[in-house]
Amino acid sequence: MIEKAIVHSRITGLGSAVPEQKLTNADLEQIVDTSDEWITARTGIKERRIARFDDSLTDYCTKAAQRAMEDAHVEPSEIDAILVGTISGDYRFPSTAIFIQSKLRAMNAFALDISATCSGWLYALFHADAMITAGKIRKALVLGAENLTRITDWEDRNTCVLFGDAAGAAVLEASNGEQGILSVDIGSNGDLAHLLYGRSENAGSPLIEESFHSRGNFLRMSGNEVFKHAVRTMLRASLKALKLADMKIDDIDWLFPHQANIRIVEAVAKRLRIPREQVFMNIHKYGNTSAASIPLALDDARREGKLKSGQTVLAVAFGGGFTWGSAVIRF
Ligand code: ACO
Repeated sequence: MIEKAIVHSRITGLGSAVPEQKLTNADLEQIVDTSDEWITARTGIKERRIARFDDSLTDYCTKAAQRAMEDAHVEPSEIDAILVGTISGDYRFPSTAIFIQSKLRAMNAFALDISATCSGWLYALFHADAMITAGKIRKALVLGAENLTRITDWEDRNTCVLFGDAAGAAVLEASNGEQGILSVDIGSNGDLAHLLYGRSENAGSPLIEESFHSRGNFLRMSGNEVFKHAVRTMLRASLKALKLADMKIDDIDWLFPHQANIRIVEAVAKRLRIPREQVFMNIHKYGNTSAASIPLALDDARREGKLKSGQTVLAVAFGGGFTWGSAVIRF
């Protein structure tokens, strides 16, 4: 029998992993001048997971990937590519994906990281989908993972209340059925990098004043500006993914937005005219986990029995760069 042409790629397994250690809003009240009331009202976050000193991002990623492969009934030797959206790997080099490959024994794969901040998982999905639909590979592990609390300034109440650590993974396979990635799109605007960035650990040199032992290496953000751009851009990106999939918002069962801030998500959902009960949120439990946010939410929703086979999802993310990504996925 002649095999039907591959029309798209499909998510066949999901998995996630988070550090054990919780940091609640009450804990943060002991660290900076803030309150549970302020954090809850302004962000929707109640607690987040943070890595201990000896925890490693590679370990969460490996656990998340193993869970996704079990879910997909796929062996490590079948994986052709490992793509990890992250900006906070354990090492400057080699990549996080390289360490995951070795831990999983996925020795037939090539492995690389993609640096696209909070849009990292959708960037990785875009590239894995393109390679699968081009027939270059058949099975990929697509991860989003961050240890942003390692680059957080714990004296800056504007940012330290926001972030949490996590890893999320999906197995992506060639598909010729109804389920799959119906559209995926990414974009960036490098003119706005100054609104959200983290300098390299040893940027500068001994010849440049303050280049060592400076607090300038932490994540820096102009929160208000980021907020405005996030709403506009996530709306635009959502509409683009719908258009590429030839769909309307009424065709969507769930919106899976990057869990950046409940107010950003509510503003986007209102403009998209999607009811609140169709917007999946878990920011109260994990905070903003950047690139891990969407795969973690998909896995959470599936385990909670909310995301079901046959449902269609609109996923959208926005992050430093600025970067953005969006996808319509049928499960
Ligand atoms: N506790 C108490 N007060 C605080 C805190 C805090 N943790 N943080 C700020 N404030 C104060 C400010 O100092 C300010 O006080 P002032 O009026 O006396 O100056 C007041 O609260 C209001 O500050 P704003 O910055 O205007 O607060 P806003 O409503 O904008 O909320 C926030 C701030 C939560 C950061 C919001 O702007 C936001 O979510 N921005 C987007 C963040 C985001 O989505 N990032 C995404 C990408 S992350 C990535 O890519 C890595």
